[in-house]
Amino acid sequence: MGKYDEVFKRSIEDPNGFWGEAAEAISWYKKPTRVLDDSNPPFYRWFPDGELNTCYNAVDRHVEGGRAEQTAIIYDSPVTDTVQKYTYKELLDQVSRFAGVLKGLGVGKGDTVIIYMPMVPQAVFAMLACARLGAVHSVVFGGFAPNELAIRINDAKPKVMISASCGIEGKKVLPYKPLLDEAISLATVKPEKCVILQRPQVKAELTAGRDFDWDALMAKAQPAACVPVKATDPLYILYTSGTTGIPKGIVRDNGGHAVALPWTMKNIYNVNPGDVYWSASDVGWVVGHSYIVYGPLLHGCTTIVFEGKPVGTPDPGAFWRVISQHGAKVLFTAPTAFRAIKKEDPKGEYLKKYDLSKFQALFLAGERTDPDTYHWAVDLLDRPVIDHWWQTETGWGIAGNCLGIEHLPVKAGSPTKSVPGYKITILDENGKELGPNQEGIVTVKLPLPPGNLPTLWQADQRFRESYTDMFPGYYFTGDGGYIDEDGYVYIMGRVDDVINVAGHRLSTGGMEEIIATHPDVAECAVMGVDDQLKGQVPVGLVVLKAGARIDPATMNAQLVKMIREKIGPIACFKQSNIVARLPKTRSGKILRGTMRKIADGATYKVPSTIDDPAILDEIEEKLKEIGYAKK
Ligand code: COA
Ligand code: AMP
Repeated sequence: MGKYDEVFKRSIEDPNGFWGEAAEAISWYKKPTRVLDDSNPPFYRWFPDGELNTCYNAVDRHVEGGRAEQTAIIYDSPVTDTVQKYTYKELLDQVSRFAGVLKGLGVGKGDTVIIYMPMVPQAVFAMLACARLGAVHSVVFGGFAPNELAIRINDAKPKVMISASCGIEGKKVLPYKPLLDEAISLATVKPEKCVILQRPQVKAELTAGRDFDWDALMAKAQPAACVPVKATDPLYILYTSGTTGIPKGIVRDNGGHAVALPWTMKNIYNVNPGDVYWSASDVGWVVGHSYIVYGPLLHGCTTIVFEGKPVGTPDPGAFWRVISQHGAKVLFTAPTAFRAIKKEDPKGEYLKKYDLSKFQALFLAGERTDPDTYHWAVDLLDRPVIDHWWQTETGWGIAGNCLGIEHLPVKAGSPTKSVPGYKITILDENGKELGPNQEGIVTVKLPLPPGNLPTLWQADQRFRESYTDMFPGYYFTGDGGYIDEDGYVYIMGRVDDVINVAGHRLSTGGMEEIIATHPDVAECAVMGVDDQLKGQVPVGLVVLKAGARIDPATMNAQLVKMIREKIGPIACFKQSNIVARLPKTRSGKILRGTMRKIADGATYKVPSTIDDPAILDEIEEKLKEIGYAKK
């Protein structure tokens, strides 16, 4: 039996022993006497009687343990021409004083705080300061519009919000404060206080009595101490797209998360304390939470906060420059970033300028790594390129090639095998387990390992309905796929109305809800169609109300504007067309899957349940008009 098989087997057969041992690596105020509490399925709890503080483990512990002078954070911002380093000691100073600021604004254990910030180190300080106080943070990605932020404010009910005067996207400076103000005015729940980081590029107007200047508060702040919390207390809420316009508030607990992430740093990514680890994501996404902030810092690594893009800041050599300048051992990003680099620098000329001798491996996730991108990256880098599959819900890899355990042979197009802790199982629609190479619904046998969502924020019933009621005893991932005869997993895409655009998860159902409010729209369908750069992009087809007179270009411009205003630019909704009817089954279900295949120019079978097959020809025509359905 190989090393991977051995570790995997133990993780499944003896989860108590396996994760109990991993829990030794962190500091507890009260060591847990129990590892897994499985008394109330499907709600599993890890380390139920343990007490700890996540910020203590990510910051103070390293200062006390000899890493005070080691760099904890490198802020590298080509868009502001800045490189700034913070040692663990400096990080402790910033975080403990910002925790003092929050405490002074009335934030305490169990309170919620929303963070709406660009990629600046203060975003990380804010997250850790919340953790220090036992408060629950919820970071909202800057590319979301005020309406989406308002939905999250209403659900999380933050006592305080933290934001900045602007974000910088390539060459664009985007003022954030007007978005924050609009979100607060739209929200039915009003936060009492806001802390605003004034950046030199834009000066935000502050509302007297409600808004406070970050620097002014920090100038007189007293450091606050770590507050012990239960392992099962929430550390953060991260909203992610579900199948409707109402996002799901994924909850992460303190204990399971603090145990699982350092384990993954060593076993999946093969990095050690002191190594430089770089995740080129954004703190607004789960990858940013786990692998810009908590994973590297809990493990005593140096993490890079990069405010830039794979291309255009200033060129497609940006990633190689950062790896070489800071000696990064690992880069974790989304395949779309590599496709963007490949498009601008297909021969990898920019790479030749840099010394990548410390660079060990590239990890990709967020969407499937297509074999073309995989081979291009391997040929270029001549190092392991590892596709791993995971979700906001899990917080760390479900399937992957665990470099720190055993580098298994790669099969391009597969994220390799179940990561220890997860028993991936393929089921058919009736819940029957399928054999090798049979495609079905990808599930994970319960319990999920530590660090996975224990539930949804104040929505236990929605948790059950979304994840565990369909197949009792299993977690429903929302993905379809199969496992081959060697145990390699293949993830073939979502089986629900969720799409992945440039590694960002979006709900087509949510977009349909917005389009349906257009006064001329009777019916609509949004689907994710293949895109060479972004993996998928949303495309809409609408049916007009009787008597409505609007041409397709005007309609498209109005829909694009509506989606940008309601969801945000990140939705990348750019194209739609008007059709006479939508194809449906005889029972009235819209055949989105069939339309998607037509849009992608793929071969498809006319479904036997379709009410009128002739509609498909018109759909093909209309998709051709906007550049799709090419064979
Ligand atoms: N704040 C405000 N707006 C933002 C934003 C932010 N933090 N991030 C993105 N946007 C805006 C962009 O400016 C763009 O707006 P536009 O339509 O007005 O031009 C829109 O949202 C779409 O952004 P993006 O998907 O980033 O497209 P792009 O064309 O600017 O860049 C890539 C394409 C491939 C370079 C980019 O998508 C990328 O770097 N992807 C990597 C994804 C990633 O790291 N995912 C993390 C999950 S692992
Ligand atoms: P998110 O919650 O935003 O991380 O999105 C999770 C979804 O992204 C998964 O359910 C998959 O559909 C998709 N995904 C993430 N990583 C991969 C991968 N390596 N291969 C295939 N799909 C992936």
